[in-house]
Amino acid sequence: MSTFKHRIVSKNPAQTKALGREIACFLKKGDVVGLFGELGSGKTTLAQSIIKALGVGEPYIVSPTFVLIREYKGKFKIFHLDLYRLNYLQELFDLGYEDYVYNRQAVTIIEWAQKIENFLPKDYLKIELFNKTKLSRLINIEGVGSCSKRAPFLLKKKLSI
Ligand SMILES: Nc1ncnc2c1ncn2[C@@H]1O[C@H](COP(=O)(O)OP(=O)(O)O)[C@@H](O)[C@H]1O
Ligand SMILES: [Mg+2]
Repeated sequence: MSTFKHRIVSKNPAQTKALGREIACFLKKGDVVGLFGELGSGKTTLAQSIIKALGVGEPYIVSPTFVLIREYKGKFKIFHLDLYRLNYLQELFDLGYEDYVYNRQAVTIIEWAQKIENFLPKDYLKIELFNKTKLSRLINIEGVGSCSKRAPFLLKKKLSI
């Protein structure tokens, strides 16, 4: 069940990065962020901004496109999963998916979350990005499960960019 939904339009990458900083303020240990959207919709842009705002130095943040999982240490432990190249669900379970997604000590950000929608935890922050034009993206933010109770906090932070 989810009750909190918010929709914004990002007009350029800088606005998407600003959203990432707001989301980073909201996140607590144990949270999962599911990023849904096609290639080029801005998932990595958003994920990297969140990671940076959680205190990871920019030179260390790399695109996880060629590996499924990257781990960072910022304000807390951060796992960045990019499932673009995931061919079989079993690959993910072989990597210990559950240790990432149910890790109470870490924040886990998942790109291409749509590939594993049925295996996402019951509580998570769902963010869907849609390409509108070359520079604008429609972004839906939704708290799923108990996250819907906390997610309105994002609104109070003047999320509307
Ligand atoms: N409003 C926007 N928000 C995010 N990225 C944007 C925006 N407008 C243009 N872009 C560009 O779109 C591309 C998004 O790429 P990326 O973040 O890697 O997407 P994904 O991880 O979803 O494939 C980047 O080249 C970025 O500069
Ligand atoms: Mg990406």
